[in-house]
Amino acid sequence: MRIATFFLALYACCAAAIWPIPSSYTSGEAVLWIDAGVRITYNGANNYSGNGVPYADNTTTSHRIVTAAIERTYDTIFSKNFIPWKFHPRNSDFEPHANASKTCISSVVLQQNDADPSDVLKPAAGTVHESYSLTVSVSGEVMISAVTSIGLVRGLTTFTQLFFKHSDGSVYTTLAPVAIQDAPKFQHRGLNMDVSRAYYPPAAIYRTIDALAYNKFNRLHLHATDSQSWTLEIPSLPLLAEKGAYEKGLSYSPAVLQQIQEYGALQGVEVYIEIDMPGHTSSIWFAYPDLIAAFNVQPNWDSYAAEPPSGTLKLNSTAVYDFLNTLFDDLLPRVSQYSSYFHTGGDEVNVNAYKLDNTVGTNDTAVLQPLIQKLVDRNHAQVRANGLIPVVWEEMLLVWNLTLGSDVVVQSWLSDATEGSQGAGGKLQLLGKFHTYSNKKYTNLILMATHQYLDCGHGQWLNFNPGTSSETFYPYADYCSPRKNWRLMYAYDPLHGVPSDLAHLVLGGECSIWSEQTDPVNLDRNVWPRACAAAEVLWSGAKDAQGQNRSQVTAAPRLSEMRERLVARGVMAEPIQMPFCTQNGSQCSL
Ligand SMILES: *[C@@H]1O[C@H](CO)[C@@H](O)[C@H](O)[C@H]1NC(C)=O
Ligand SMILES: *[C@@H]1O[C@H](CO)[C@@H](O)[C@H](O)[C@H]1NC(C)=O
Ligand SMILES: *[C@@H]1O[C@H](CO)[C@@H](O)[C@H](O)[C@H]1NC(C)=O
Ligand SMILES: *[C@@H]1O[C@H](CO)[C@@H](O)[C@H](O)[C@H]1NC(C)=O
Ligand SMILES: *[C@@H]1O[C@H](CO)[C@@H](O)[C@H](O)[C@H]1NC(C)=O
Ligand SMILES: *[C@@H]1O[C@H](CO)[C@@H](O)[C@H](O)[C@H]1NC(C)=O
Ligand SMILES: *[C@@H]1O[C@H](CO)[C@@H](O)[C@H](O)[C@H]1NC(C)=O
Ligand SMILES: *[C@@H]1O[C@H](CO)[C@@H](O)[C@H](O)[C@H]1NC(C)=O
Repeated sequence: MRIATFFLALYACCAAAIWPIPSSYTSGEAVLWIDAGVRITYNGANNYSGNGVPYADNTTTSHRIVTAAIERTYDTIFSKNFIPWKFHPRNSDFEPHANASKTCISSVVLQQNDADPSDVLKPAAGTVHESYSLTVSVSGEVMISAVTSIGLVRGLTTFTQLFFKHSDGSVYTTLAPVAIQDAPKFQHRGLNMDVSRAYYPPAAIYRTIDALAYNKFNRLHLHATDSQSWTLEIPSLPLLAEKGAYEKGLSYSPAVLQQIQEYGALQGVEVYIEIDMPGHTSSIWFAYPDLIAAFNVQPNWDSYAAEPPSGTLKLNSTAVYDFLNTLFDDLLPRVSQYSSYFHTGGDEVNVNAYKLDNTVGTNDTAVLQPLIQKLVDRNHAQVRANGLIPVVWEEMLLVWNLTLGSDVVVQSWLSDATEGSQGAGGKLQLLGKFHTYSNKKYTNLILMATHQYLDCGHGQWLNFNPGTSSETFYPYADYCSPRKNWRLMYAYDPLHGVPSDLAHLVLGGECSIWSEQTDPVNLDRNVWPRACAAAEVLWSGAKDAQGQNRSQVTAAPRLSEMRERLVARGVMAEPIQMPFCTQNGSQCSL
């Protein structure tokens, strides 16, 4: 009896290993096997199998989405799985014996209960339902049902996380029967990725999209251009990427950009683009020097910009307006095929750069404010004309007091920086501004606290001159040090301190990978698995079913398991704990 209990407890250790955790989840302890011949049907009509039978079906968008997900499901379960020895006591006989049960998964039925909405490949927040239900019976019947194809994608992702590789090469679950009902807490769950300060080949972006989708994120925000390099090829302005990329070819052609967006859209990860301005634009200078003021002032660049090279779009220049008109005319119709949002930036505008702007010549905000309002109005009119929703950084509202359209999404980054220590003051200021400015018309706020910055804690990337440095900058921590560990990210509740009547304004959140010290070599380990912590907060909510903060103690082994699944899928995610801890979960708590 004791032994029986012991083994039940063993299996139970991994019984909740789905990440992010579903809204409602029950499972048993029966063993089921699955082999690559298992049939998957979609709405009865189609009949797929992993045994080399072609199953790609591109007849409708919904079929493309679902059959691509079926393909990934087979690939994940049979080719990218792992043996879970790290989650069982040393020297234990944890694998089910082939003679213990011969029951196999006999069928996987995908049932979509409604037609996909027309914007299924580029949803605005909340327009495409991602909820699903999943059942696995002890006799091996699987049913996944959802309202949309994207819901089925989410359900299939969960399904793959029920299975482990056996050391004899077969694949099994020990969790039958399973019953899951699941839906996201927040509608906008993203990663902001800076592809300007470092260039990432498309393969790195595809790999990131795969990992995002595997964590049920639904947005990839590409911070596509900045002062350091211009990565977007614009056919009507070819010099931009030719001169402004770090090196010829380190840019994204329209075809590649479209492939990236389409690749994401088919997995329910909307790739939306940011062109940050009027600051963060110095790379335009390499092609069009007349459009940029205060370019690369040295050595006191820090009086003119947050980072070198300094530089800003001139604020009162018809040439700049003509340029933006041409740029947006080229880019926006293309990116609007696969996104509903376009981010026009607006962070860290440095007023002193305009003292060197020959169209303005002052740092007086009373002069600059109407010009910035005019620029943003111009940009947003063109964004809307292309069917896109404008997104801006919080300074446009908090520093520049702009009047923004009621459709505009404001993204925070500084405002929530004190979250966890001094409460949610900045966030509330932002929400309050929505409230009073807009007569509650604004419904959109994306929160990205520096708590969600994945690039912090590496130390300074600037070099300091002897003498000045040791006193002022020692020990050379970066501005957002320390490194944000997964526990901190997991403890961040976007709704903390938000009164319930303002909660509807919080659309969701993003974590962020800036690229001063990140590039394709350390991308994976900088992002994963810490971004998983944000994924669970955004999908499942920061509080459990009892309304309590989610527990690190129960999350840690699940997160470690998710890390193994990411590694099995080719993502070089860091370990959460050493095997000593994960092999007996009770040993490493305090
Ligand atoms: C799927 O195909 C298999 C093998 O061809 C067949 O036995 C099965 O009846 C088919 N199922 C459906 C639902 O069409
Ligand atoms: C369906 O589309 C995918 C992705 O675009 C492509 O790789 C595949 O070859 C297509 N399959 C068919 C049968 O057309
Ligand atoms: C885990 O550690 C505890 C405390 O040392 C021990 O009582 C228990 O038997 C261990 N469990 C396993 C499965 O090794
Ligand atoms: C099942 O197989 C294992 C070894 O794989 C063996 O130790 C065990 O006795 C077998 N059990 C039964 C009931 O045959
Ligand atoms: C903007 O430029 C126009 C035309 O050159 C000029 O008349 C106007 O004074 C400028 N505005 C500011 C605020 O400098
Ligand atoms: C604007 O420039 C003046 C000197 O020209 C300087 O004293 C002042 O600090 C600047 N304002 C800001 C906000 O930097
Ligand atoms: C925006 O409003 C705040 C608070 O009223 C004020 O301190 C600030 O100077 C204003 N900013 C500009 C650019 O006018
Ligand atoms: C729950 O988390 C919030 C931050 O989201 C924190 O302020 C609060 O103290 C936590 N509550 C408990 C009981 O730990």
